Amino acid sequence: MSTTTTGGRRRRRRRVLVFPLPFQGHINPMFELAGVLHSRGFAITVFHTHFNAPDASRHPDYHFVPVPGDGTPAQGTLVDRILDMNRACEAPFRERLAAVLERRREEEEVAGLVADAHLLTMLDVARGLGLPTLVLRTASAACFRCFLAYPMLYEKGYLPPQDSKLYMPVKELAPLRVKDLYYSRRPGDDEMVRKLMSRATQAVRNSSGLVINTSDALEATELERIRNEHNIPMVLPVGPLHKVSSKTIGSSSLLNQDYGCIEWLETQPLKSVLYVSFGSLASMDSKEFLEVAWGLANSGVPFLWVVRPDIVRGLDDPNFPNGFEVAVQDRGKLIQWAPQQEVLAHRAVGGFWTHNGWNSTLESIGEGVPMLCRPQFADQLMNARYVEKTWGVGFELEGVLERGKIAKAIRKLMKEREGDEMRERAKEVKNRVDGCLEIGGSSHVAIDKLVNYLLSV
Ligand code: UDX
Repeated sequence: MSTTTTGGRRRRRRRVLVFPLPFQGHINPMFELAGVLHSRGFAITVFHTHFNAPDASRHPDYHFVPVPGDGTPAQGTLVDRILDMNRACEAPFRERLAAVLERRREEEEVAGLVADAHLLTMLDVARGLGLPTLVLRTASAACFRCFLAYPMLYEKGYLPPQDSKLYMPVKELAPLRVKDLYYSRRPGDDEMVRKLMSRATQAVRNSSGLVINTSDALEATELERIRNEHNIPMVLPVGPLHKVSSKTIGSSSLLNQDYGCIEWLETQPLKSVLYVSFGSLASMDSKEFLEVAWGLANSGVPFLWVVRPDIVRGLDDPNFPNGFEVAVQDRGKLIQWAPQQEVLAHRAVGGFWTHNGWNSTLESIGEGVPMLCRPQFADQLMNARYVEKTWGVGFELEGVLERGKIAKAIRKLMKEREGDEMRERAKEVKNRVDGCLEIGGSSHVAIDKLVNYLLSV
C-alpha cells in the first residue's frame, strides 16, 4: 500500500534510498540501517553496483536498482577501486535516480538518499537532483576524527610515519600512537589515501547529517569533538546497528554462512571456544598461515576458525599443514564463512581472535566477548588500540606471527586471570552499550532523530 490516511488526510508513503559501498563491511551496516528504517514504516530502495551485488531475493520488500558502468576493475588497491567506482557510476546513477524519482512521484515521497561516505559522487548527484542526503559512516567515530585531522597530522609531522616515531603518542587523537593512524604502507599510495579521506569528509560536510555506526557508550568524547571542533551539526550515533535491526531481516552476507558450526558449538562447554576470523578482506602469507594453524593446535583451546578460500595470498585454497587436521579433530572446527553474529552470541564462545574490522569489533563488544587483536590495515589498527587501551576488552598480538607466541596469547585470553578480567569488562561494556539502545538511550534517541528528519524533509 502506498498511502495511509491520518485524520482524513492522505499521507503518502515515504521512501528512503540507500547506496552502500559494495564491500561486506560496508554492506552489512547499510542493510541493518535500512532494516531499522523499514521497521519504522519507510519503503526502501537499494542502489547497488554489479560488483558484490546483494541478493535481492532475501529482501522481498525492498526495491533494488542496479547501477551499471562497472567501474570495478579486479585490480588496483581498494582506494583505486573506490575512486574508479565513483567515476564510473556517476552517469548511470544520475539516470537511474532520475527515473526512480519520476516514477515514484505519483504515489510516494522520496525522503532522501543515505549513501556510504565513500560515495561522494553519488551524494553530489542526488543533491543535484534536489534530494536531501545523509552519509552513513560504517567505521568508528575515532576513525572519522582521524580523517578530519589528516591535514593536521601532516602539518605536525606525525605523517608520513617515521620508523623511529611509531610508538609516539598522537596527543590530539589520544589514545592513538603514530603506528595506529590510518595510513597505507604501500609506496605511492599516500596521495590517493589523502584524496579518499578528503572526499569522505567533504561528503559529510556537504550533507544534512552524519549517521554513524557507533555508540555514546563507546565513543562519547570522540563524538562530542566531531560535533564541536568540526562543526558538524547532525551527528547521529545509532549503533551498534546489528543490535537495533530486527533479526528477521534477510542476511546481507555475500558468502554462504555455514550454520553447521552452530550445531558444533552446541556440543561445547560454556565460554570455552575461541572464535577466529579475519573478516572479508584481510589475508596472510603461507608461512603465517602455518604458524596460525599450529598456534591454534598447540594452545589446547577449542576453536572455530573461519578459513576463507582466499585467506592465503596467491592461493585459491589454503593448504593445511600435514597432521594439523588430525591433531585438532576433537576440538577444532574449520569453516569457510560463519554466521558471525550468531556465533558471537553463542554461549560456548569465550573469545574472538579478530582483525578488528569495525563490524567485527562492534559485534564482539555487543555480545561481551573479549578479543585477541591482530589488525592489518586501515582503521583496524586504531580499533585494536581502543579495544586494548580505552575499553580494556582485549589485547593486541604484535610482531611476527609465531606458533609459541600465538598459543601463549590464546591461553592468556581463554584460560588466565587477565583474560577473565577482560571478559568481565566486556560484559560491563556490553551492558552500557545495551543501555544506549533502550528507549531514551542515546542510540535510540539518535534513531528517532533520524526518522523525524526523514519525515520532515
Ligand atoms: C573492512 C575493513 O577491512 C575494515 O577495516 C573496516 O572497518 C570495514 O571494512 P571487513 O574485513 O569486511 O572490514 O571486516 P568487518 O568490518 O569486521 O566486517 C565483516 C562483516 O562480515 C561482519 O559484519 C561479520 O559479521 C561478517 N562476517 C565475517 C560473516 O558474516 N562471516 C564471517 O565468517 C566473517
